Amino acid sequence: MSSLRRQGDFTTLTRHVLTQMGSFSAEAFDISALMSRIALAGKMIARQLSRAGLVADVLGMTGTTNVQGEEVKKMDEFANQAFIRAFEQSGLVCRLVSEEMAKPYYLPENCPIGRYTLIFDPIDGSSNIDVNLAVGTIFSVRQQETVPGDDPDRDLLQAGHKQLIAGYLLYGSSTMLVYTMGKGVHAFTLDAGLGEFILSHENLTVPSKGSIYSVNEGNFHQWSVGMQNYIRHIHSQGGYSGRYSGALVADIHRILFQGGVFLYPGTQKHPQGKLRLLYENAPLAYIITQAGGKASTGKEDVLDVVPQSLHDRTPLIIGSREDVDLVLSFLHD
Ligand code: AHG
Ligand code: MN
Ligand code: MN
Repeated sequence: MSSLRRQGDFTTLTRHVLTQMGSFSAEAFDISALMSRIALAGKMIARQLSRAGLVADVLGMTGTTNVQGEEVKKMDEFANQAFIRAFEQSGLVCRLVSEEMAKPYYLPENCPIGRYTLIFDPIDGSSNIDVNLAVGTIFSVRQQETVPGDDPDRDLLQAGHKQLIAGYLLYGSSTMLVYTMGKGVHAFTLDAGLGEFILSHENLTVPSKGSIYSVNEGNFHQWSVGMQNYIRHIHSQGGYSGRYSGALVADIHRILFQGGVFLYPGTQKHPQGKLRLLYENAPLAYIITQAGGKASTGKEDVLDVVPQSLHDRTPLIIGSREDVDLVLSFLHD
């Protein structure tokens, strides 16, 4: 069970990270500084989102398309830049990888001191921005490794087990930051008055079974027979509620707290589905797995998948252990 903050008990993100690291070593201070920079970028994004409709440059498109061929929103660009700015001159992160950048972005002034790579989805669910609904940011931190060969970025093409830290920010009715570094899942809520993320839920666990299913059923006729049969089963059972917001972070946040399953299956046209491994599926799989849940592509554990390229996609079935297993039983039939 999660524990709610007692009145007057303020555990900041920085303090929590140091406690999790269990030491006051140089590495612990680096990781805690790194998390503070992620939090800073999150606060910049939350502030900008709160001005949507009041100032120019929040709503709408930039007029460009990204490496995925998707139209880039002004907030996608703002959020991408917010993270770059937060890590400039930090000595922490030498390389950033994002949905919005075809190639890794190097901060040469931080290399080789910055031993970490930040991988992120600057705004997840960006179609929600123009209608004032919840969006998120997904992040993942990996140790930078030296690999033999010509390609210095080949170390990124490793399984999700290589993640040191993963988490997300959710810009909802309040702004929350949820993270894991392999010792449970912890949630912080932004106290706007203090300008600090304060621990609100420690050691979150996802219920082993839930009653929420979250999927875009508009794609029903493009799914495999197994996936269609699973959804037919849900419909016939009764007792399930469909919830789908258009932002993966928001939908999975609900499931983290209340249980259930989120699905983005492959379709006939796109067998790998829509969601990207390095900055969507793997970080969220690390969170949900740490909370006692499960994340699968339908064939293997999401954290076992080794990408072939930075922007690879995989199908995603994630959430409560029993619900994910039920989906898999239909797919394997
Ligand atoms: P992004 O805004 O980063 O491109 O991600 C959107 C993703 C995800 O958040 C959401 O669950 C999914 O796309 C929605 O896709 P459909 O509209 O195809 O359901
Ligand atoms: Mn996304
Ligand atoms: Mn995005």
